Amino acid sequence: MGATELSEVVARASSGAKLIVVSNREPVSHERRADGIRAVRPASGMVTAIEPIVRAVGGTWVAHGSGSADRLVTDTRGRIGLPEDAPRYTLRRVWLSREEENGYYHGLSNTALWPLCHIVYTRPHFSRSDWETYKAVNGRFRDAVLEEAEDGPAIVFIQDYHLGLLPRLLKEARPDLKLIQFWHIPWPNREAFRIFPWGEELLDGLLGNDLLGFHIQNHCNNFLETVDRGIESRVDYEHFCAYRGGRPTYVRAFPISVDFAQIGRDAESSETGRRLAEYTKAIGGDRTRETTLFVGADRIDYTKGIPERLRAFDRMLTLHPELKGKVCLVQLAAPSRTRVAAYRDLNRELDVLVEKINRRHRAEDPISVKVMRGLGRLLGGGRGPADGWVPVRFLRAHHDYYAVLAACRMARVALVTPLHDGMNLVAKEFVSARTDGDGILILSEYAGAARELVDALLVNPFDIDRMTDVMHAACVMPEADRRRRMERMRAQVEKNDVYRWGTGIFEEAERVRALETTP
Ligand code: F6P
Repeated sequence: MGATELSEVVARASSGAKLIVVSNREPVSHERRADGIRAVRPASGMVTAIEPIVRAVGGTWVAHGSGSADRLVTDTRGRIGLPEDAPRYTLRRVWLSREEENGYYHGLSNTALWPLCHIVYTRPHFSRSDWETYKAVNGRFRDAVLEEAEDGPAIVFIQDYHLGLLPRLLKEARPDLKLIQFWHIPWPNREAFRIFPWGEELLDGLLGNDLLGFHIQNHCNNFLETVDRGIESRVDYEHFCAYRGGRPTYVRAFPISVDFAQIGRDAESSETGRRLAEYTKAIGGDRTRETTLFVGADRIDYTKGIPERLRAFDRMLTLHPELKGKVCLVQLAAPSRTRVAAYRDLNRELDVLVEKINRRHRAEDPISVKVMRGLGRLLGGGRGPADGWVPVRFLRAHHDYYAVLAACRMARVALVTPLHDGMNLVAKEFVSARTDGDGILILSEYAGAARELVDALLVNPFDIDRMTDVMHAACVMPEADRRRRMERMRAQVEKNDVYRWGTGIFEEAERVRALETTP
């Protein structure tokens, strides 16, 4: 499955109509730096998946312009061609005021919908004024999409929970537009959803879509049951769709993925190689083999289970003191949504926890000192200790694509242990980057990825004792076992890559349209 086949399917499904992708997060933000303007790719699974598709197919991507230098590089309508060196599609930026961003993004999207949908014991907070701002900002995106559609036929591919009202707004304005939405996070069971004060309006918004996608079947089931109980409509379980106002919205599972081949090439590129060589040198040449590196790469988000994995690592060192000086956990941690209180609390919790673990287990170990000092410098974050072995290096910074790939390659064990996650593409990135066929993935059974990557070591991140055992098993797993598991995981991601995901969505859009026109 590749880019060419995907382009053909999209061309067929859209019958010549323009493709417009809409999301909150933009594929690239432009940031002011001391040495000029820098293009930054955000830490976002959604961007990882959608960008190669839009690059292959072309069209327009409408997104919030959030970078400090975004306005400086766009034309008067907020447009810029991407990639900048050889444009394949247009990014149209939507400008939001500080108040709009607060109410719509930090507020309704990330203090109400995010915890509501993930059900991870962080209480959602509902504010009427955030809801009003969310509605208004969805209206702003509608205006931008209508402008980009220019009265012609268009197929609009909407991303995520920030834009739950957009489909209805677009359908009302332009019933001829083909609307597809992908919800990148879980959909909770109907009991959990019931507490959302504007549930009916949100469901009505989503039922403006022709096709609505989730990562796994369970989320589709939850959604249709929520609709069945939550809003006047007719649910057809045979065709898996809901009729509202006589029009159907089909609901389907499409497990999202990554560009397996491209990640493999990039993982072997000179850019990644250069960083990897620096790591190896810092670790001390042959001694690399003596240090078992556990690596995590996440946004600092309470759904990602970072404290839980740190606790399991801590416990492993307590139960297996012979590992001291021989294992290290390198956590690449991208700051995220820090205007939301729960995220600030998590940052504080992590600081205390890392400090405590490092203090408890630190011992004199000159080799490890060298390793961790080198890593700290190369990965561009964290401060090294004066001396001694450092069990956990918590590197709080935005780590770019190549840094993450190099970290994936140097890891013996990747830790992907969210408490709940729609899919989690770091797991699939790790597998794609391991062209050497080695490496172990410890994966939460509550990540959508666990349905496909059954050769990972699956854990319940709430069960710290069990996670400790699994981490220890990873330390002692023979190479042949590691390779056998990795080979099967690689075959799985290669087969179900992001092009297959995109192709599946647009093929299904075509199929359900045919269903409607068949008498
Ligand atoms: O994958 C779910 C998601 O919410 C994406 O939509 C989003 O881009 C990503 O997580 C990161 O979050 P944010 O865009 O808020 O930084």
